[in-house]
Amino acid sequence: MEDLQLSNGFELPILGYGVYQIDDLDECKRGVASALDDGYRLIDTAACYGNERAVGDALSEAAIPRGEVSISSKVWIQQKGYEGTIQSFEKTLMNLQTDYLDLYLIHMPYGDYQGSWRAMEDLYEQGRVRAIGVCNFLPDRLIDLILSSRIAPMVNQIELHPFTQQIALRKVMAEQGVAPMAWAPLAEGRRGIFDNPVLKRIGQRYGKTPAQVVLRWLTQQGICAIPKSVHEERIRENHNIADFSLDDDDMHDISAMDTGVPLILDVDTPEEATRLHGISHTQ
Ligand SMILES: NC(=O)c1ccc[n+]([C@@H]2O[C@H](COP(=O)([O-])OP(=O)(O)OC[C@H]3O[C@@H](n4cnc5c(N)ncnc54)[C@H](OP(=O)(O)O)[C@@H]3O)[C@@H](O)[C@H]2O)c1
Repeated sequence: MEDLQLSNGFELPILGYGVYQIDDLDECKRGVASALDDGYRLIDTAACYGNERAVGDALSEAAIPRGEVSISSKVWIQQKGYEGTIQSFEKTLMNLQTDYLDLYLIHMPYGDYQGSWRAMEDLYEQGRVRAIGVCNFLPDRLIDLILSSRIAPMVNQIELHPFTQQIALRKVMAEQGVAPMAWAPLAEGRRGIFDNPVLKRIGQRYGKTPAQVVLRWLTQQGICAIPKSVHEERIRENHNIADFSLDDDDMHDISAMDTGVPLILDVDTPEEATRLHGISHTQ
């Protein structure tokens, strides 16, 4: 499958492995090791996941040349602001046992994200990150950031799966050259996605599972997807999507599954803003 080319020309694998909610560090290390064995070359972590060190250990032990693997991580709300972001970045590099990141993201559209962005611009210009971006930015904040910055975000990592397709946001992102990265591409297993009749019917035609159909549907649209699993066979299954293509009818049938609203994270509410501001972590 073709890589995803970002607005600055940097290329990211279109399919990666995510490690959110893998709190057991041995399990995280095993998961990353399996993913690398299966051929994944993009690993997505975050300061607030508390598992950057395990990801770094797995990468070191895999002994794959650093330039052949892309690593993305994120700065959390409490670390925002210019100085805090630089400090968090240094810890992230130390944990991941590397001297640069491929992609560095602002995790939430809250707090002093303008200050964080100034830090990200500097890190990018110093060559310490290959690309910079944001997560969970809705159109108003995305445009605000673009209009008040030297460098526009290259990526917006957003909740994106068949039940939440983010059509309006993706249109704005496309107009601004901001690439979509799908978090919870498998809807975190919610709403019975793995037993969904439409996905099962499509999958049967190709000898593929609903998970593989969804990941193919995303990547075929040029959307980077970063599914998480702690099970070796599922990690392999999720990567095994390069040998089939969905036709126009399949794509249309999956598009019709959209509910138009977030299933997992509604960032645009006082409840979520309050809840997320309350989450702290040690790096
Ligand atoms: N930027 C953000 O705000 C943000 C937010 C959330 C997530 N993310 C990133 O996106 C990544 C993916 O999102 P996510 O972890 O929330 O959800 P996800 O990848 O959509 O779903 C993960 C869930 O699906 C199960 N699963 C995975 N593959 C499966 C398969 N082939 N068959 C059956 N079940 C399967 C996993 O269970 P098992 O592990 O038991 O297999 C897990 O319960 C995260 O790991 C993280 O890197 C970013």
